[in-house]
Amino acid sequence: MHPDLAYQSDSGEAGHRPAVEKRSLLRRIVLVGTIAIVAGGVAFGVLALWLYQSARTDTVGELEFTQELKIPPLLEPERGADGGAIYQLEMQEGFSELLPGVQTETWGVNGSYLGPTIRAERGDWVRMEVENGLPEATTLHWHGMHLPADADGNPHQLIGPGGDWSPTWQIRQPVGTLWYHPHRMGMTADHVYRGLAGMFLIDDPENVPDELPQTYGVDDIPVIIQDKRFTDDGGLDRSEPFGSQVGQLGDTILVNGTYMPYLDVERERVRLRVLNASNGRFYNLQFADGRPFQLIGTDGGLLTQAQELTEVQVSPGERAEIIVTLEPGERTSLISADPDLTLEGFSHRFSGGDDTLALLELRAAENLGPAPQLPAVLAEDELPEAEDATVNRQFVLDGTSRINDKRMDMNRIDTVVGVDTTEIWEVTNSSGSPHSFHVHDVQFRVLEIGGQDPPVELTGAKDTVFIPRNATVRIAIEFTDYSDPQTPYMYHCHLLRHEDNGMMAQFTVVEADEVDSAPREITGVHDDHNREQGDSQ
Ligand code: C2O
Ligand code: CU
Ligand code: CU
Repeated sequence: MHPDLAYQSDSGEAGHRPAVEKRSLLRRIVLVGTIAIVAGGVAFGVLALWLYQSARTDTVGELEFTQELKIPPLLEPERGADGGAIYQLEMQEGFSELLPGVQTETWGVNGSYLGPTIRAERGDWVRMEVENGLPEATTLHWHGMHLPADADGNPHQLIGPGGDWSPTWQIRQPVGTLWYHPHRMGMTADHVYRGLAGMFLIDDPENVPDELPQTYGVDDIPVIIQDKRFTDDGGLDRSEPFGSQVGQLGDTILVNGTYMPYLDVERERVRLRVLNASNGRFYNLQFADGRPFQLIGTDGGLLTQAQELTEVQVSPGERAEIIVTLEPGERTSLISADPDLTLEGFSHRFSGGDDTLALLELRAAENLGPAPQLPAVLAEDELPEAEDATVNRQFVLDGTSRINDKRMDMNRIDTVVGVDTTEIWEVTNSSGSPHSFHVHDVQFRVLEIGGQDPPVELTGAKDTVFIPRNATVRIAIEFTDYSDPQTPYMYHCHLLRHEDNGMMAQFTVVEADEVDSAPREITGVHDDHNREQGDSQ
């Protein structure tokens, strides 16, 4: 150190100022500092208020329903020599007019956005001929389907660009509104958001009452709800909004890829098969005029009896089948309001909790075709029973990226279950975010939610269930038919950013006497996502 400076800064004459001058300098510093803090505080407050205000989306009554609802085409299968149904699915890139007059770059299956509706009957053998015409590797997963693990389309069945994949299985489950979407490790949110998703309906003509509306596109309508955010040049904005606990959220709602859609209804009763195919948004479905509707089905099946409700919530990945009755000439709209995210204040607002969204207007014709009364019993209860359970497991969802304290690892098998056993899974949300828990291969029964009996909308077949904050959901699951110690299925949060962040784990189903000896590790698996990204950038 310089000796002079050392001297001056100690106590020398040169460094000494009169006390008065010193005080006024101090006062000035305090004043300027105070102004800066207040101004900063005000600016921060204004910014926070602006963010808070602009985080709310309200489209009910604000926007007009101007576009006719698009109905995804039914995919006609070819018949193989053995009588099996063969479906051709090509994933491709293209442009879509999602907003009127705007071309947006999107991905789709057999088209540029979303995919066709697949229908198969219980007992059918199906073969999916999937081609990847995209510039990236991806997978196609059959959400809600009971099938062999190597046909699941999870991150282990990667299809490279230009590659193909043809899984085969027999449909061994009741009627249901299933769906398909990509499931590549770390990329699911992105690939679904770009437009890859479609419905997969399972029919069971012998066991389904004829009185249910079931003419596709006429009185049996797919309603695939997704939220998007667009950039100024019409592209899909994939950023996550400030403060969101649920990942991506858009301010623009599309149904079957249609913006502000209406549906012309020709019969007294119409069945809406609602699928929440959004990445992170929860919808609390209801009619703008508060009219009641009949809930007839959930994820993977019909309820035993129709239930009259005025609202039903679907978290990402969930489905609800409802029947609504209309008078000639009237209009009503399906909206979402007051979703229960179990969040408060800011995080509730920033996670879409205060949004009121116009979804679909129903316009009844002046002359409506008659529709029969619904039968008293819709279906048999085929769900697993709690008293058959021989194993109990606990799963804790922490933060937005871990289950039981671990992030997803494709080489690790987290859970091994025996085939033909029933288990109770207790899933606890100990994090600050809402989650939506999904298990591959099965339809489960919800036994209890937060210590209470499940509400009617959780009494049917489920493969995905909302796990409220600070609550435990108990479910009964049975694993049947297929075993494969080498190929896992997944269980994960269906808020796709959480899934991609690592809130996912793997289970195998093995022969009952091999549970203890089955491998807990898979060797030679890699997820090429990071490597490929590294190569191309
Ligand atoms: Cu809808 Cu594992 O997914
Ligand atoms: Cu799934
Ligand atoms: Cu989550």
